[in-house]
Amino acid sequence: MAIEPTWLTRTPAWTALAAHCHATGTAHLRDLFARDPGRGERLVAEGAGLYLDYSKQRVTDETMRLLVRLAEERGVAARRDAMLSGEKINVTEGRAVLHVALRAPRSARILVDGKDVVPEVHAVLDRMSDFAARVRSGAWTGFTGKRIRNVVNVGIGGSDLGPVMAYEALRHYAARDLVFRFVSNVDGTDLAEATRDLDPAETLFVVSSKTFTTLETMTNAASARAWVLAALGDERAVARHFVAVSTNEGEVRKFGIDPANMFGFWDWVGGRYSMDSAIGLSTMIAIGPEGFRELLGGFRAMDEHFRTAPLDRNLPVLVGLLGVWNTDFLGAVTVAVLPYDQYLKRFPAYLQQLTMESNGKRVSVAGAPIADYSTGAIYWGEPGTNGQHSFYQLLHQGTHLVPCDFIGFCRTLNPLGRHHDLLVANLLAQGEALAFGKTADEVRAEGTPERLVPHRTFPGNRPSSTILADRLEPATLGALVALYEHAVFTQGVIWDVDSFDQWGVELGKVLATRIVAELESAAEPALAHDSSTNALLRRYRARRGQ
Ligand code: F6P
Repeated sequence: MAIEPTWLTRTPAWTALAAHCHATGTAHLRDLFARDPGRGERLVAEGAGLYLDYSKQRVTDETMRLLVRLAEERGVAARRDAMLSGEKINVTEGRAVLHVALRAPRSARILVDGKDVVPEVHAVLDRMSDFAARVRSGAWTGFTGKRIRNVVNVGIGGSDLGPVMAYEALRHYAARDLVFRFVSNVDGTDLAEATRDLDPAETLFVVSSKTFTTLETMTNAASARAWVLAALGDERAVARHFVAVSTNEGEVRKFGIDPANMFGFWDWVGGRYSMDSAIGLSTMIAIGPEGFRELLGGFRAMDEHFRTAPLDRNLPVLVGLLGVWNTDFLGAVTVAVLPYDQYLKRFPAYLQQLTMESNGKRVSVAGAPIADYSTGAIYWGEPGTNGQHSFYQLLHQGTHLVPCDFIGFCRTLNPLGRHHDLLVANLLAQGEALAFGKTADEVRAEGTPERLVPHRTFPGNRPSSTILADRLEPATLGALVALYEHAVFTQGVIWDVDSFDQWGVELGKVLATRIVAELESAAEPALAHDSSTNALLRRYRARRGQ
């Protein structure tokens, strides 16, 4: 029996949006602002310490009204409540989706299969706090009795991107007498460069893997173990230099890590939603247990906002809906994330996994092909102002429409002369230039030779949102991450995709396992790939020793 398609594009709200887009979609932001000077103060929303200005998106009050109607029709609020109450909304894996439980207060009760998970969450947080405090104070020593000076997180995907992003983002608050490194790539260069100047006797490895079977992490962890043992010469050293963060106690034991040094989490935490679980152990060691609790407080504040704010003033809902509008009605295929804060330099990379692994889907929850609308956009970005001197040319004058999310702060953590005003001036200037551009007449009026007028004209009408917060603090980061987590959720509900599985990563893993056997076989293997893969494989085998 054929699976019923989603019919999203036939819903009343979608058809109304399509008609509205047809009638008004080409309206220029210049005209929208000229006709409605109040929009810059009206098309904004605030919550959990974040101020969102979406007035430079190509929307009107009517667009927003219809988008909110779409969210209502698609049942965003009901799905949100189902998620928050522990329903198994990750249907392809039969799992609840409860990253919100990771930041729930001790007094909360959230049931999964009839069991309250909040006490376990806090038990792990308490153990993490105790361990982090001991590493930070020097009470936890290495095998030879030396103090731990270096913490190396070994993980990949959600077990790396969250920790590395959070460490960079919150570096201002980090213990400066500890060195933090992050190893993810199976390329041996990553581990070699991360450890080359470290003393094994002073180094603690945090092996972070939900499954504890991931090829990259297990390979790196095994090499790290060999590096420690080569220097310290005693198997018992492993217990002092390796701790694990995982859901898989059996595999952790097999690796030789004492389960007493394992910090657990649960199958209802997706890898890309795990930076506030025990996967955040390196973050907690860096910023301390109190700082980590502040981070959780920021997440919680945004969760609460998402749960209670009306849809038309709900930041994650608005960000999610604007993404749907840009992707499905204005035809944008990408979103640029542009933090004007050096500490957020890894934030775009973090968001790539969060957004693209979640909503990069081509079938509905029921399994029907999605044929007549687009799902998750391509996320990428770099911190401002660096991006301005590389790819912003395309944002301003290219043929592609690239909606932008600007992120900035009113106060800097490193006051230094005029730097911060210059930084923020650039943030504001870019949003303005993208929206309003510069007309040919304006260019001519400057005395530009006619032949250069087309080159120096800026079309404008390029949409952006600006997220402004007071200061980058642990709580601000938590709120920012939760904002995008729930925006991704909102979009997943509208597009009717399972935002919490990632089957698309499996095929490559299986093929790599087959190929590695062929690369490592002593005899010339019978190759059964396509002619291109066979030829590349043969060439590699023939030349790798040179
Ligand atoms: O391959 C994708 C993925 O499963 C991600 O979803 C996950 O964050 C990453 O691998 C790492 O997985 P693990 O934490 O189990 O090592």
